[in-house]
Amino acid sequence: MKRSLGVCYYPEHWPEAIWADDAARMVDAGISRVRVGEFAWTRLEPLPGELRFAWLDRALETLGNAGLEVILGTPTATPPRWMLDSHPDMLAVDAEGRRRKFGSRRHYCFSHAGYAAECDRIVGLLAERYGRHDAVKFWQTDNEYGCHDTTLSYSDAARQAFRLWLARRYEDVSTLNHAWGNVFWSMSYQSFDQIDLPNLTVTEPNPAHVLAFKRFSSDQVVAFNRRQVEILRAHSDAPILHNFMGRELAFDHFEMGRDLDIAAWDSYPIGFLSDRIEASDTHKDTFLHQGDPDFQAFHHDLYRCVGNGRMWVMEQQPGPVNWAPWNPAPLPGMVRLWTWEAFAHGAETVAYFRWRQAPFAQEQMHAGLLRPDSVAAPGLEEARQVAEELEHLWDVSPAQAPVALVFDYQSAWMYEAQPQGADFDYLTLVLAWYRAARALGLSLDIVPPSERDFDAYQLVLAPGLAELPKGLVEAWAASGAKVILGPRAGSKTTELAIPVPLPPGVPSLDITVTAVESLPHGSRFHLEGGEQVGRWFEHLDFLPAVEVLRATSDGQPAVVRQGDVTYVAAWLDTEARRRLIADICATANIHTNVLPDGLRLRDTATHRFALNYSAEPVQWDGKTIEPAGVAWRAR
Ligand code: GAL
Repeated sequence: MKRSLGVCYYPEHWPEAIWADDAARMVDAGISRVRVGEFAWTRLEPLPGELRFAWLDRALETLGNAGLEVILGTPTATPPRWMLDSHPDMLAVDAEGRRRKFGSRRHYCFSHAGYAAECDRIVGLLAERYGRHDAVKFWQTDNEYGCHDTTLSYSDAARQAFRLWLARRYEDVSTLNHAWGNVFWSMSYQSFDQIDLPNLTVTEPNPAHVLAFKRFSSDQVVAFNRRQVEILRAHSDAPILHNFMGRELAFDHFEMGRDLDIAAWDSYPIGFLSDRIEASDTHKDTFLHQGDPDFQAFHHDLYRCVGNGRMWVMEQQPGPVNWAPWNPAPLPGMVRLWTWEAFAHGAETVAYFRWRQAPFAQEQMHAGLLRPDSVAAPGLEEARQVAEELEHLWDVSPAQAPVALVFDYQSAWMYEAQPQGADFDYLTLVLAWYRAARALGLSLDIVPPSERDFDAYQLVLAPGLAELPKGLVEAWAASGAKVILGPRAGSKTTELAIPVPLPPGVPSLDITVTAVESLPHGSRFHLEGGEQVGRWFEHLDFLPAVEVLRATSDGQPAVVRQGDVTYVAAWLDTEARRRLIADICATANIHTNVLPDGLRLRDTATHRFALNYSAEPVQWDGKTIEPAGVAWRAR
């Protein structure tokens, strides 16, 4: 499949007189797709029922005439101010019980029926008008569900919907009481109507209650999106995507992905490094102008799975952003590197955010491909270079990866509901294992916990999988893959209780986790051989068939193995994790590499890509790869 470049464009921000020139310049730079409309509701309907679509007709015509394919966004992330007059209670309510206000975006509660009906109406109007439009080749629903902490809402509408959801799930209230363990602290309910949302309790609410609320909230987001998808599909055959965010775990993306044709995501590597990655100051300094070398790749792999194989980057950082605490500029070459990295991980399209920097409002300090005065910003030349390179290397289809990593939103919610150690963060744990595999030059696929076909994999990583769904362990065994499991594997039931018999509950693994402990920052156990563990440690009972691979200096097992399954009973340090994967790969005939710092590899069906995230040149494969350089060779 031919890979392509795109850009996000806001015709409503610019005089109509310059649209045609903008479109021509996009095409000249090698851009072939353009996203419009996702925040334009007030321009489409300035007053209730007063529709003004003519400007969008003309914008689509101008872009289409230039040869651009349009992704049309539904504008539901930015309801107009007038809507609050008829639906004052459509705003979400935060955990402190405060109603969030109008004046930015994403100001709605997913459970509000009146707002949902307004969305049906505007999406229906757009779908009817543009569903068969020549230029409209794709749809985007809303914008970054969950971003700005908008999944959970403690509103009256959410409370009512939550009660109905509970009644459907548990059928009678005594089942719910039993499932949640409400005998504890006399929390039993006599009817579903008594159940409130789990905020503002005197001390911590029942974690099962919190988990149920997270599950409900995730379902609300999925249902909200599904309504739009159904309306669009009734009027259009164009594929539908949503632009997901990075490190957004508050709803189950795999669930939503089933309703979409493509999973797109928004990649802001330098913003993410500063804002949403747990790492040392040295790491953050080293990659200040490049972004974390694994975070983007992780999301590419995750969203490729969410999109059932079809993934895009809908918004690619083109220069400094505005929203992180500090906003350094990318090293020259990074915009190109990020783009090629996305293609190497299977992206069909990489679109830059945004075409021209807006000199007004919240994002006036956010770079575009053009400066506010329309002069090319540095990102534009790098995009053009990729477009030229794509002429020669346009087919970079993904290959079967040797390693699968199981990713589970429910585990993330369980640890949020009851972390037991303040820094036990699911994504940080999973990313640490992903990094360790990538540091060995391995390519990975990310799979959901519902995956049952592991035949193509030689190694499966399943860190922190709180609940082991039925059939998963059996599927691993049937595949013959090596498996690395733990910590906290099988540590919870579906209702967030401790299973008895005790975890991990893997029939082929004769171990029992008898006790666990979490450790504050800086507190460590030493492993024989100099490595360390921190944060989390489990005490194991085990039978003689179990082999201890790593133990603490006082002899407590930290990593054990039986057959093909290795159980990790601790939060290992980077070196221990890397060495464990390398040792297991050696036994499974998986080839690993020792890579220079900052270099990452990615194998596609036809090529091996080498991407230099470091600010220094590196030697690889007999070549020098410059800082921010990308090299590829046929496999
Ligand atoms: C994204 C969002 C865009 C824009 C961008 C700025 O999260 O989808 O609309 O705000 O960030 O980096």
